[in-house]
Amino acid sequence: MEKYIINGGNRLYGKVAIQTAKNSVLPILAAAVLTDEEVCIKNVPHITDVKNMVKILSCLGCKAVFQGENLIINSSSADCFEIPSALAHELRSSVFLLGSVISRFKSAKIAYPGGCDIGLRPVDLHLTGLKRLGVDITESNGYILCKCDKLSGNEIMLDCPSVGATENIMLAAVKAEGETIIKNAAREPEIEDLQRFLNCIGARVSGAGSGTVVVEGVEKLSGGEFVPIPDRIEAGTFLVAAAMCGGEVELERVCPENLSSLLHKLRENGCKIYANGDKIILQSGKRLTSVKSIETQPYPGFPTDLQAQITALSCICKGQSIITENLFETRFKYVPELRKMGADITVINRSAFVRGVEKFKGATVIAHDLRGGAALVLAALAAEGRSEVLDISHIDRGYGAFEFKLRALGGDIVRIVV
Ligand code: UD1
Repeated sequence: MEKYIINGGNRLYGKVAIQTAKNSVLPILAAAVLTDEEVCIKNVPHITDVKNMVKILSCLGCKAVFQGENLIINSSSADCFEIPSALAHELRSSVFLLGSVISRFKSAKIAYPGGCDIGLRPVDLHLTGLKRLGVDITESNGYILCKCDKLSGNEIMLDCPSVGATENIMLAAVKAEGETIIKNAAREPEIEDLQRFLNCIGARVSGAGSGTVVVEGVEKLSGGEFVPIPDRIEAGTFLVAAAMCGGEVELERVCPENLSSLLHKLRENGCKIYANGDKIILQSGKRLTSVKSIETQPYPGFPTDLQAQITALSCICKGQSIITENLFETRFKYVPELRKMGADITVINRSAFVRGVEKFKGATVIAHDLRGGAALVLAALAAEGRSEVLDISHIDRGYGAFEFKLRALGGDIVRIVV
């Protein structure tokens, strides 16, 4: 077990280069199973979710090796359609493999996926979509079993715009016979990125980024080289860190358009923000003012993956805020931990009612999930005194070199092996 020890109170100054988006890389790795030719994904972050996805690809018989920051995948030797249950439990994104594995083998077997413990994360929309493409699905003993003679394009209307379901159906449809139309598709930038990757290896996908995605099935895919988009959630986390600690931070290799809902709120808080090309500069001086209300929504609304961080910020603003979580019901597990640091928060149903206090005070807190864990680190950096953040393996799932980047900005944070 590892933990962070953080001495709070330092302002943050300097530049930080943003990693490639975790939520782009994971479905792209799943997509690599669809082709027999070599695929090179550039600048892949060294985070646990990626490492687990690479392990799963190896179990399927694919060759996946890091060459520096690039990941080279060759799926020509893939020979297994079962995703081992231990790994499926580690990583929710393993479910994205259903679409590609079924496309490749006409069979797939996967244990119900795991990932962050942030409430029920059903896969019904993934399964309904696959059924519409001709897949026969049975569930037994915690496994999902899929079989089909062939995949055939169809029209699929999602009950809600699920990111994972949209991506999974795209993956299954790429080599299906005929055209697939996904309606009420999720519009996240990572879905557009998956489309760009698929088209780069010979697929015919259009419409991603809008509510309707159209996939025309092709017979064969090729290889290719691809640079995924920057990680808007890592970028957002550093922006909130700078807002909370004060100082001036410049993000490099970032896509400001993908962060507009956060930038809008941070400006309302009183931060000065300059976005230019692939850079964002944030300046934060005196104590910030609360934003009255924030609600998480599918893109382009405020991202649920930044909810914990913005709540931590609200805790030390002047005034009161209501933060409502509309996507995942148990995404407030970090709240009791923030209370240990002096926050004044009450959670009722899906909303956190926050009354701003002057400062956080250092404390020992436990990370229960990825983004909640990151929020605790930010609170500790802004706090008066010393904090310990325990169980940081959750944070390692999505943030590469987190403490190195924060230290380079002036944060006093070290990792200790317990
Ligand atoms: C993805 C992201 C995750 C982010 C989330 C929402 C990846 C690897 N993960 O997760 O970081 O927090 O989008 O932006 O990209 N739902 C159903 N049935 C389903 C699927 C989803 O009811 O079959 C519901 C979920 O309970 C949730 C909502 O749809 O309320 C959105 O979930 P979804 O977009 O599917 O999230 P993920 O793809 O799991």
